Amino acid sequence: TTERTFSIIKPDATRRNLTGAVTKMLEAAGLRVVASKRIHMTQEQAEGFYAVHKERPFFGELVSFMISGPVVVQVLEGENAMARNREVMGATNPANAEPGTIRKELAESIEANTVHGSDSLENAATEIAYFFKPEEIVG
Ligand code: CMP
Repeated sequence: TTERTFSIIKPDATRRNLTGAVTKMLEAAGLRVVASKRIHMTQEQAEGFYAVHKERPFFGELVSFMISGPVVVQVLEGENAMARNREVMGATNPANAEPGTIRKELAESIEANTVHGSDSLENAATEIAYFFKPEEIVG
């Protein structure tokens, strides 16, 4: 079934001018970019987005990193888009990611890991709504 999932191209990637390289890998994996915008998150926005990780020891660093530069937020559409996106991203820690995945090929570290992708369809819907109005998504 056709699904939508949410992706962020993180500050380590925009800093290294890899927006196109990441998007190319997403597209090659069969995902279609149906919404995209480059933003610089505020601290409040980043804290709200990562609220589920609030109690984690890395929360403060994660928020600082995510506001250290611009990001590109995207809605990806395709057959099994959520799982497909997680597959092409690779493991959270690039050291554990499979060859050919975005994180193995491009990420710098577990924190500067180039991309975020929703981990469930329910979270995808919440995350999409956090950054996009319905009319900004053009399928
Ligand atoms: P993401 O998919 O954006 O969701 C939470 C993020 O926290 C994750 O990607 C990592 O970038 C980051 N993260 C997870 N574990 C650690 C860790 N041990 N130290 C620093 N950052 C982490």
